[in-house]
This record gives sequence, C-alpha cells and structure tokens, in this order.
Amino acid sequence: MIPVNEPLFGGRELEYVTECVRTGWVSSAGRFINAFEERWAAYCGQCYGIAVCNGTVALQMALAILDLQPGDEVIMPTFTIISCASAVIYNDGVPVLVDSDPRTWCMDVNHVKERITPRTRAIMAVHIYGHPVDMDPLLDLAHKYGLAIIEDAAETHGAEYLSGRGSNSPLWRRCGSLGTVSAFSFYANKLITTGEGGMLLTDNLQLAEKARSLRNLCFLPERRFYHEELGFNFRMTNLQAALGLAQLERMDEIVARKRWMGQEYTRRLKDIEGLELPVEEPWARNIYWMYGVVLCKERDMHARQFAQKLRAHGVDTRPFFLGMHEQPVFHKRGLFLDEHYPVAERIAHRGLYLPSGITLTEAQLIKVCDAVREVLS
Ligand SMILES: Cc1ncc(COP(=O)(O)O)c(C=O)c1O
Repeated sequence: MIPVNEPLFGGRELEYVTECVRTGWVSSAGRFINAFEERWAAYCGQCYGIAVCNGTVALQMALAILDLQPGDEVIMPTFTIISCASAVIYNDGVPVLVDSDPRTWCMDVNHVKERITPRTRAIMAVHIYGHPVDMDPLLDLAHKYGLAIIEDAAETHGAEYLSGRGSNSPLWRRCGSLGTVSAFSFYANKLITTGEGGMLLTDNLQLAEKARSLRNLCFLPERRFYHEELGFNFRMTNLQAALGLAQLERMDEIVARKRWMGQEYTRRLKDIEGLELPVEEPWARNIYWMYGVVLCKERDMHARQFAQKLRAHGVDTRPFFLGMHEQPVFHKRGLFLDEHYPVAERIAHRGLYLPSGITLTEAQLIKVCDAVREVLS
C-alpha cells in the first residue's frame, strides 16, 4: 500500500533530540524552543514566533489574543478543518461561513464582503492543501472595516503569495506573513513536523507577549503562581522543537520536493477527463501539501467508491474536508441550519487526496497515476 504520507527524518533530528535527552532539557524550556521560534518566524517573514503544542490551539490562542467578545463574528471558509470553527466557539465568537473558490478550493474572497456585519471582528483565511488564499482583497476589506486577519497556514509551509499585484511593487510573500496573526501546525503529515506541534506568528509585540503569557498559564514573570488572567498550558517541549529545528534546516529541499511531486502528478493526470486537479494561480506558489483530485459531476462515482477502488490497487487516500455547515455537532448547537455552499459541498463529496508524502518516489507516483487512470477508464 502506498501511504498518503510518511515523515522523513533525514537531517540532524536524532542528534538534536539526543542532546535534549542527554542534557535533561526535555520539557518546555531549552535552547531548541527559542531557536525554532526565531527561525520559523524569520523563514515565514514575521517578527515573533510562539510555539505551542498543536495547530488547533494555535488558532484558539490567535483568537484569544485578539480579545474576541461574546457574539463577535469571524468570517471563515466552510471548507476547512473543525479546529477553525472550534477556535471561534471556544472564544465565545460566532463563525460566519463562506463558500469555496471553485479553482483553488480556498475561501471565495468574493463572498466575504457580503458577510460583514457590525459584529464582524476578524476574517480567518485558511490556505487549503498547499495553495494560498487570494489575500489582497481580504487585506483591503480588513483595512476598510477595521478587521483582524487570522491566517491559518497549517497546510502551506513555504507556499508563497504575490501581494500587491497591479501595484508598482508586487512582492512574493510567504504564507503566514500576511495576517495580523498566523497559525501553523507541525503534525506528522505537515511539511515539517514536531510530532504534534504548532506555532503562532505575529509582527505585533503586544500580541506576541500576550500569546506567550496565555500559553504558559498566565504566570506573572515577577510573581509565579499569582494570576491576573486565565491562561492555558499550550507549551511545546524542547524535544519537539529539536525535531522541528532539524526539519527546518532542510526546508528548501522539502519544498522543492513537494513542488516536483505536485507538478509531476499534474503532468501525468491532466489528460484524464472528468478529473479536476489542483491549480497554481499566477499569483501563487503551491506547495501541494496534499495532492487533491475531484471527480467531476459527469462521473458516476462518489469519492468514497473511488477511494475503495484505489485501495484495491494498493493506493491509500484520504477524503476531503466536510464543510462546517454539514457537521452535526454544529447543527445540534443551532448553527448553520439550512445553509448551503454548493462549491464546498461538491468538492467535499467528490474529492480525495492521493499519496503526497515527502518520501513518495517517482515509481510510486507513477503507480498511483496508473491506478487512477485504470479506475477511471
Ligand atoms: C487548515 C488546518 N488548520 C488547523 C489544523 C490543526 O492542526 P493540528 O492537527 O496540529 O491541531 C489543521 C490540521 O491538519 C489544518 O489542516
């Protein structure tokens, strides 16, 4: 079976992790935490990094430091992981959904303005499967309406966005450098992993300090065990950061490998009729975190059947996200009832992703493409 993903530890991971064990710095203090935070923030193009224990809590903390008030609304895509909506709800906010762009599968930025109300506080832009959201229109709206932008870059390590197109000085910027705050995940299927892990990035010193305090139970530096605010224990360990730092040292190689994989899949699959493939808009550099494919309506096959048939050919896959408006847990809370988002529904029910790991060889990729072709022939 060709797996959907396998992590690759081909650098100094063992050396760094061994150093933690040998020196005893295995908890949330130690040299690797600061180094990983600083280097990841610098790589992405933000000033401050606050490492946490996963991407879900990075999003939760991103909203907490923005001081969301009960009933404040956050506009976000329906087509994403539940962590995005739960982060809003845990902060007493209200998620307000928009449909997906039919090409990039990211939030359709043309639908955001119509969802803005006097209660809107923020827009959560979630880059999907390695392709950036079209950020400029969102940044314009944020500026005009005084909103914060939370960038969920969990799936776009190293992806780039051409900002300011149409201006005299367009600039390629990394995902995670465009929002008021941005959140990353370093789960094992991400481009770089810490096993479990996440990070919040920002250019704003005040927000960074607030995040550092919240992450660590809001201990007062000058008086431990005395608390003026309620915090969380969202700390990352030095062991995890050691793994992350070693991975980060090979970031360029990893990004190049993923881009090769995405382009190679597209080259080999693009002539198959009725199969929609990932795009790379001229203003984007996709890192193909996961290579998704969507069966067109004319094909009389559901993604689940497609997955079963590929499995019979030795190819493992994963289903696409199911939109937040189709989740029973939110219906039970009276949220998103009778809401419909046709693009998100179509891709959720007809999409899956193919093996996309960094260890995927050319021979395996060819085998996957042959299997796709045979199943759809
Ligand atoms: C877009 C997005 N946001 C957030 C997360 C949550 O990250 P974690 O699994 O580290 O909690 C994920 C996880 O894959 C994700 O894909």
